Amino acid sequence: MQLFGNTIRVGAGQTQLLGEGMLFQRAVDRAKEKKLEIKTKVNKIRMDYFLLSLLFTFSLSTLTFFLLRRTGTGRKTRLPPGTIGLPFIGETLQLISAYKTENPEPFIDSRVAKYGPVFTTHVFGERTVFSADPETNRFILQNEGRLFESSYPGSISNLVGKHSLLLMRGCLHRRMHSLTMSFANSTIIKDHLLVDIDRLVRLNLESWTGRVLLMEEAKKITFELTLKQLLSIEPCEWTENLRKIYMRVIEGFFCIPIPMFSITYRRAIKARERVAEAFRLVVMQRRRESERGMKKNDMLAALFDSGGDGGGVGFTDDEIVDFLVSLLVAGYDTTSTTMTLAVKFLTDTPLALAQLKEEQDEIRAKKTDSMPLEWEDYKSMRFTQCVINETLRVSNIISGVFRRTMTDIDIKGYRIPKGSKVFTSLRAVHLGQENFKDARVFDPWRWMKSSNPTNFMPFGGGPRRCPGNELARVALSVFLHHLVTRFSWEPAEDDKVVYFPTTRTQKRYPIIVKRRSNAVEQCKEYGMEKSSKV
Ligand code: HEM
Repeated sequence: MQLFGNTIRVGAGQTQLLGEGMLFQRAVDRAKEKKLEIKTKVNKIRMDYFLLSLLFTFSLSTLTFFLLRRTGTGRKTRLPPGTIGLPFIGETLQLISAYKTENPEPFIDSRVAKYGPVFTTHVFGERTVFSADPETNRFILQNEGRLFESSYPGSISNLVGKHSLLLMRGCLHRRMHSLTMSFANSTIIKDHLLVDIDRLVRLNLESWTGRVLLMEEAKKITFELTLKQLLSIEPCEWTENLRKIYMRVIEGFFCIPIPMFSITYRRAIKARERVAEAFRLVVMQRRRESERGMKKNDMLAALFDSGGDGGGVGFTDDEIVDFLVSLLVAGYDTTSTTMTLAVKFLTDTPLALAQLKEEQDEIRAKKTDSMPLEWEDYKSMRFTQCVINETLRVSNIISGVFRRTMTDIDIKGYRIPKGSKVFTSLRAVHLGQENFKDARVFDPWRWMKSSNPTNFMPFGGGPRRCPGNELARVALSVFLHHLVTRFSWEPAEDDKVVYFPTTRTQKRYPIIVKRRSNAVEQCKEYGMEKSSKV
């Protein structure tokens, strides 16, 4: 009992203890519950606050957005009408998805139909006035440096270099633009550059056999031509290695340019440093040679001879390197893509190909196989120029250019405020039915009738008009000459042209080439036959 009593006592004690323990436990539990309750309340308040601030931010941005949208098309600022799409993204996604297809035109067509040829949109993070109007485009381009200035995002500046011609402004730009023109004008091409263009194009075509990725080959040719013209460097292992690095730089122009997110962009910046370093070594070496009186006839020599700031002070090596890189960038993708697309359009238009072949065969028939093309030959390629014009018109390698307004500007009854982004769409004009008859059809014969309509601006206009335009035409003509007089070809696969992130064929245009046997002899016979007919 005692034991039991004890036990009971003990038990009672335990019960008491248990009772106290339970009370304590309950108090603890209650405290915990209270804490949890408070925590939940705090979390709820936090959540409410979060939702509230989110709602507030959203409302504010939506309000701003609608206010902007209203002022955009309203009376006060009189911006051209348009839609600026979703907050932040604008109409960028619609633009990208249109340009990723073979037929991007509906993006522009629908807006032009709704708002007219000058409208407002919001692309790539900024409200943009878009012009599909030839007169407005000319006005914008002609007034470069006075009312408008070129505008590139920082990501592009990093790739071309801060001393690039593309980024220069004011009198330095004017001087360097004319220096570039003087290096690539007709006389220089005729007297110095044509012979190398002819030789290097031939050299490349020599090795072609079977399946050829035309886009790749065209890029190789263009790269070699440019290095020869800029630095007098012949194709070799060094140029080929440099080209491989350089191709990574080019990829950087067409990716999301945020170093934190884009491996491609980071890689492009590193590749750009390597290309610049390779150029820097060449520049240093050539400077030493130039001081010893050894002169070459190329762009680098012209830069050595020209003062850096207009006051007779020479350019630094960094300035020269940036300048050279930007010329390489400006001429590389543009010329090589035009070469590829000219061949694609010709292949798809057999009548045009036959006429171009006839023209080029006649030229070759007057020469032996090893004789280079001369300036007079180039000048006699009338139909070839029509094909080149039409390729430039239809494909629009540079679909348009961005500018920024330097002051409030009145255009077509609207007032565009200072600091606005404007896009002069060359593509929209070239493919506008009111500007060209059957504008969406590849028709090189249209150029037989009118050789230079004012609406045709594939090389831009005004003070920034492409200084390499004649050089590009000559390279294209020489390339087409040697291609059609040496080879026949057929597409290896179906390939299509797309326009985002850049104008290109999706599969790099694979073709199967076949050497034309005794091409020269055939041409000669053909030439004689033709003349005997006459
Ligand atoms: C088919 C080939 C080419 C096309 C379609 C083309 C097109 C253009 C266009 C539209 C512009 C005007 C850009 C603007 O207004 O902001 C331009 C500028 C330029 N192009 Fe070309 N180009 C081609 C070939 C070349 C070549 C071979 C060179 C090499 C010398 C070159 C060098 C330049 C330079 C340096 C600029 C900048 C001019 C400046 O900002 O003052 N281009 N090009």
